Amino acid sequence: MIAQQYDGETPKGEQLVAFYLERAGVGVGLVSEPGRLPHLVHWGVPLAHGEETIALYDAQRPQGVGGELDEPLWPSVLPTQAEGWIGRSRCALARGGVEVPCRFSVDGVRLDVDQASLTIAAGDGDQGVGLTWTLQILESGLLRQRAVIRNDIDETLSVAGIQLSFPVPYAADELLCLSGRHLKERVPQRRRLADGRFEKISDAGRPDFDATLLLALGHPGFGFETGRVYAASLAWSGNGLLAAEKTTYTAPELCGGEVLHSGEVVLKRGEKYETPWLYGACGDGLNDVASRFHRHLRAVHPALSSRPRPVTLNTWEAIGFDHHPALMRELADKAAAVGVERFVVDDGWFEGRRHDRAGLGDWRPDRSVYPEGLHEVADYVHGLGMQFGLWFEPEMVNPDSQLYRSHPDWVLRPCSGRLPMPGRSQQVLDLTNPDAWHTIRADMDMLIDDLGIDYIKWDHNRTVTEAISPRSGRPAVHEQTLAVYRLIDALKSRHPGLEIEACASGGGRVDLGMLEHVDRVWVSDCVDPVERVDIQRHTSLLVPPEMMGEHVGAPKGFTTGRMTTDSMRMAMAFFGHMGVEWNLTEVPQESLSRLQAWIAMYRDLRKGFAAATVVHADLADPAVRLDGMVSADGSHAWYRFVQLSTSLNYPAALVRLPGLLTGATYRIRPLDIVRYMDDETSERGARFPSWWRDEGAVLSGAALMETGIRPPQIYPERAMVFEAIRLDGGGNG
Ligand code: DGJ
Repeated sequence: MIAQQYDGETPKGEQLVAFYLERAGVGVGLVSEPGRLPHLVHWGVPLAHGEETIALYDAQRPQGVGGELDEPLWPSVLPTQAEGWIGRSRCALARGGVEVPCRFSVDGVRLDVDQASLTIAAGDGDQGVGLTWTLQILESGLLRQRAVIRNDIDETLSVAGIQLSFPVPYAADELLCLSGRHLKERVPQRRRLADGRFEKISDAGRPDFDATLLLALGHPGFGFETGRVYAASLAWSGNGLLAAEKTTYTAPELCGGEVLHSGEVVLKRGEKYETPWLYGACGDGLNDVASRFHRHLRAVHPALSSRPRPVTLNTWEAIGFDHHPALMRELADKAAAVGVERFVVDDGWFEGRRHDRAGLGDWRPDRSVYPEGLHEVADYVHGLGMQFGLWFEPEMVNPDSQLYRSHPDWVLRPCSGRLPMPGRSQQVLDLTNPDAWHTIRADMDMLIDDLGIDYIKWDHNRTVTEAISPRSGRPAVHEQTLAVYRLIDALKSRHPGLEIEACASGGGRVDLGMLEHVDRVWVSDCVDPVERVDIQRHTSLLVPPEMMGEHVGAPKGFTTGRMTTDSMRMAMAFFGHMGVEWNLTEVPQESLSRLQAWIAMYRDLRKGFAAATVVHADLADPAVRLDGMVSADGSHAWYRFVQLSTSLNYPAALVRLPGLLTGATYRIRPLDIVRYMDDETSERGARFPSWWRDEGAVLSGAALMETGIRPPQIYPERAMVFEAIRLDGGGNG
């Protein structure tokens, strides 16, 4: 770990300060002219000598050209017009509705070697604005930065938006952004970054389905395996944006920050506004970038690997609102019998909730359905040796509820006479109101204690629009987001071991902020495995597999109507935090046995999965996908080959296996579960490749990674799984 300061001189003989940070194979260099905010001059592979950062000043400082201000435009870490910045405002402040342009000068610098961080204290005394800016390299090799704005005078200061940025090399001009919708999250979109700005904004009170988990700029053609790539991600679950911006004067930059509505953050003297962390990851290929995010989240949640991820059954797609204690018990019996370890009762258990138009906010078991309360289910589930989970939507309320009737003023609304447009017949509770916050906390607390709840599925089923707090009279998404984090943290600290899953009609709230607070996310409401192949792939750019809820649904897709085979659905759930969302009371024994076998296999391997590096292969054939997980020491890897549609290559073309050690020798063979592949997977009349047997084939990592192997010929919309076990000095082969 390195955090060093070097002193140098500008060509004009002025004093120059350089900073160099290095950790986890990532080097970062910054230079600061006297009293000025620094410029980020290097981000990537470590420099041979940190002192080189001084020379980078000479190498990069733009020379003056005609038609510009007297000093050439060279954006600092928080550029303002005072330094000639003429792109989109990065530091928008106002007093009494009038803009406050700032020229920050540096008052102090702190380098912390243990934290690999640099903190700059700066301010604009004339404008009464203080600034603290921090940059840090984490153990994962992720870079993150945040700013704190302080009001130093009596007149209030409005913060309209602070955007932080990472400059990237000019050669990185191919932009990758994710889009999506309900039931089809994380669809990649690529474009060339031209001069100007590309912005992906979330103004839904949550990142929403089309959120770009990260925004990446890379060398043209970059893929999962190759190509230098730089990515930014915002750790924030409210309104925010990620952008890529380039001008004719300046290098491409990845920017990000919170989106604030007028009057949302107003600081009195001495008050501060803290931006969310903006994370940056660089690497060779997206696999490399993703592995840094995964390492970070695994460090935040050490329990994910120390406590094996329990196989989960969720009742939603099995029974919907059709709750009956006897049916629940029957489902729990079936679940326990196939190896499920956590039974989650989804929506429909609380007062008045016989459909989705009433009841939210009344977090008491519906006695018309559960005359004895939920004990009869929770105790039964515990008695079968499973954990008990319960669904809540704590931020929401139906106007048709006791809670709303008692407290109509606890709802975010544009004005007293009007509610926002309803979504799923519901409104958003004003959790910035301490009374509302404490009531929800107390209701949940009581149930957790009373029923011994081990797990909460925390849903959020509408966008947050016209979100003014009746209490403060101000736009409230900023405070609401912090209140939600506080609520999650309070419940977790009062109930050690409690796990929480974030869901927002599926993947509407997947972001680093939420991922740092919860234990898993519900990736999508679409569990159709054909759709999930790519949803899972691109969600894994940010989320490690053990945090991705992946469930085996019924053969007929709940949201697509598509019929799929058991093994396709099971192979898909196998590469995430595996679960079931299927009415097992109606499933034929043959399928139950298959499910039991896949679950047993998952339980065997999950410890390895929770520490593995995720790899996706870049293959020429658009009809297939190859995804894998490789143990940290490269001694064991698990791969999944998916035939999405029929290929032109016949038999299937060779697939390369990324992530192995080139010099090592591996045995490659099918996983037990698919060794005798069922008729519904293997194409009629096709013979298996000769390695498809117990002994498999023995090959070097180099051959497997460079040339590859022939996958079996399988029908479209089918998958098969296999493993590579190191023979020379690792693995159990
Ligand atoms: C939306 C979620 O995504 C579903 O899984 C389910 O929990 C429903 N809400 C329940 O209303």
